[in-house]
Amino acid sequence: MTRRAAPALVLRARMFDFSGVPRHWCGGDAVRSRLFDAFSTLLPVGERFFIEALRRAAVELGDPELDELIEQFVRQEALHSREHRRYNERLREEGIDLDRWDRSLKRTMWRVLQLRDPRIPLAITVAVEHLTAAIGRAVLDGRVLDDAEPIVLAFWSWHSAEEIEHKSVAFEVYERLGGGPGLRRAMMGWGLLLLAIRLGARLVDLLRRDGVLFERATYRAGARLLRGAFGQILTTEIAAYFRRDFHPWNRDDYHLVEAWERR
Ligand SMILES: [Fe+2]
Ligand SMILES: [Fe+2]
Repeated sequence: MTRRAAPALVLRARMFDFSGVPRHWCGGDAVRSRLFDAFSTLLPVGERFFIEALRRAAVELGDPELDELIEQFVRQEALHSREHRRYNERLREEGIDLDRWDRSLKRTMWRVLQLRDPRIPLAITVAVEHLTAAIGRAVLDGRVLDDAEPIVLAFWSWHSAEEIEHKSVAFEVYERLGGGPGLRRAMMGWGLLLLAIRLGARLVDLLRRDGVLFERATYRAGARLLRGAFGQILTTEIAAYFRRDFHPWNRDDYHLVEAWERR
């Protein structure tokens, strides 16, 4: 199979002003707004974990060329984390104990980073990076956030573009470390379970606070998402990941990044 070469990573130091963003910023839809909010609360700790996993692998490999690529990846993820922390402040203002959420996720992630085999945290990073690129695709081709507040759409689009751009970095490092498809698949299973539990709990908490948890419109919106972009991620995108010949650039979606740059 011929596939495109991984693109060069560009550092785009953006800052977003989230003041005045309404609670249900996505066309008034509580489910999509809160799903992305809940996802965002996982990212500062999650992206820190990816950075640690990649840095550990860099030490193991000691390849200057790879070190440079990993540092570019780290710089992108570090900026994402910074902006997500600022984005998440909106939730803190609503009275959500973000520090408690961070602490509990950190405990789990820290335990994984303590494991002797650096391929394990790296395999988790590869799996989650596949999911973030898939979500990024859905954002950039207008399938999920098309009716969002402009500043929030700009923010998620920026993050999505860079997730697509750097989607093969963790995978390439994983392969260089001798990681195989078995561990990669197993850690996707683990990652999905962790995401379902953590993301699910946070989403339910946010919807309960909004007083819409038991509303019929909430379930209708959830069902629409599962029939649409998110259903596709949970089926087609996961199936692609489980293929033996999986490579992030088997799917060339860089045109979405180029189109976003032109906008
Ligand atoms: Fe990121
Ligand atoms: Fe990423």
